[in-house]
Amino acid sequence: PHFLVINGPNLNRLGLREPGVYGSKTLVDLEQDLFSLAEEYGFDMTCFQSNHEGDLIDSIHEAEDQYDGIVINPGAFTHYSYALRDAIASIALPVIEVHISNVHAREDFRHHSVTAPVTEGQIVGLGFFGYQLALLALLDKIGGDLD
Ligand code: DQA
Repeated sequence: PHFLVINGPNLNRLGLREPGVYGSKTLVDLEQDLFSLAEEYGFDMTCFQSNHEGDLIDSIHEAEDQYDGIVINPGAFTHYSYALRDAIASIALPVIEVHISNVHAREDFRHHSVTAPVTEGQIVGLGFFGYQLALLALLDKIGGDLD
């Protein structure tokens, strides 16, 4: 299998951005850990980050023919982008939503996700580990080998 990991707006600032909330590790650190997991479990993975809603939407559309599933952290678009939600709903691939922070323990506007209802499920508040859990869940979903 080949999975796509998408990080949305401001996640290129991991490590610099509000370290008390998101930790001190960078996006490169995150992606390196995920590549190690991919190697361990024998799946292919491509990572993509963009701050632009339209580019995220394009990457979701284009993923349909190229990947077996998507892990996405839509950043703040989670809370209001109906366009991103419609993009996810428009493809047949399994999509899992991840949030690094516990959005439910934060501002009210972060409690609601417009994208989560069109995903397989959502993992929140478990830090970078959430992405690993999401990738293993995708592997399980498509009948991969978790041993
Ligand atoms: C986030 C939570 C969002 O509310 C926020 O806008 C982000 C990051 C998270 O990973 O915890 O950019 O998606």
